[in-house]
Amino acid sequence: MKRPTHGGNLSWAAEIADCSPHALVDFSASINPLGIPDSAIEVLTQSPIALTNYPDPNYSDLKKAIAAHHNIDPDWILPGNGAAELLTWACRELAELKQTYLLTPGFADYDRALAAFGAKVKRIALTDFSQPLLPTLGLPPAITAPTAIQQSNGILLNNPHNPTGQWATAQTVRDQILNNPHYSLVVLDEAFMDFLPESQSHSVIPWIQEYPQLVVVRSLTKFYAIPGLRLGYAIAHPDRLARWQQWRDPWSVNTLAAQVGEVVLSDRDFQAQTYAWLAAAKPLLVEALQQIPGLEIFAGAVNFVLVRSDYSVMELQSRLLRNHRIYIRDCLSFAELGDRFFRVAVRTIEDNQRLVAGLTAELAAMR
Ligand SMILES: Cc1ncc(COP(=O)(O)O)c(C=O)c1O
Repeated sequence: MKRPTHGGNLSWAAEIADCSPHALVDFSASINPLGIPDSAIEVLTQSPIALTNYPDPNYSDLKKAIAAHHNIDPDWILPGNGAAELLTWACRELAELKQTYLLTPGFADYDRALAAFGAKVKRIALTDFSQPLLPTLGLPPAITAPTAIQQSNGILLNNPHNPTGQWATAQTVRDQILNNPHYSLVVLDEAFMDFLPESQSHSVIPWIQEYPQLVVVRSLTKFYAIPGLRLGYAIAHPDRLARWQQWRDPWSVNTLAAQVGEVVLSDRDFQAQTYAWLAAAKPLLVEALQQIPGLEIFAGAVNFVLVRSDYSVMELQSRLLRNHRIYIRDCLSFAELGDRFFRVAVRTIEDNQRLVAGLTAELAAMR
């Protein structure tokens, strides 16, 4: 089987580990280890009958739930079949511009979506993975003259950033990107923003109505542990979203996903449990990883950790699969990182200890 571009490909990993996919401990996809919220399970177990009807193509109830969560107008929301679907439509619009700035390394699916519509891409390399995302990047400086004409450039920015976990404050994004007429379309992928509690959020959603050139894309698949169900949403000017709605198929979000979305965003208990788990588990994992010789840790802000290794990650990954049934994310699909980086999700304290023990044993054997 071909090496996968994305994490979470359990069939591929299980073949190497020679076990059932369910026997693996998956650190490769950054999914909340608390699992699907009870509120969602209730909906999923009660709803099969709903499958006999088409979903509401306007997703009115789901939009209302998302609107209430962010305190915005439902007309500014478009639910999608995961953030990935909405990024596709954002990239179709980016492809109409002179060029699109893209930070590298970055989520590999951006390349797919941009290439699908022939977008011209200008790559900006992140070189220091321990620094905040924007200030040092050499992006076009903000033009301050009030008469500056908007330029036909786009930018696709992931905040917090996969795979480094670094972030830019909302104010930095506003100052350097949103108030910069260099960009006529700004796409902010906030797929991991939910992992920051509201008081620490750097989302630009509160400013959405001030910036018609802004598109924010959010994912529900990681925080609510439903990557197999698929659900995300875009927040942007209603005219833009109406255009996307015309491009796509009328029912891209299935009935069950829509009903789950309606309940999970107001599941405060699950959100509080998630913040408590992450605040407890992540520092322990980072500290333990830092003790392992040959690894350099980039802890970032959210629910995964990027690691630089003195040793081949392909070999390390294969050993962890074969000897421990542990699946880490190699970074070969991030072309700039190659075989000396891997990424691990923060899981339960017990799973994380198993990871640390496996890494310690295998790296000792490889030395
Ligand atoms: C940065 C980033 N954006 C978007 C996605 C896609 O999310 P979804 O599962 O909602 O399509 C991912 C998935 O890994 C991701 O890492």
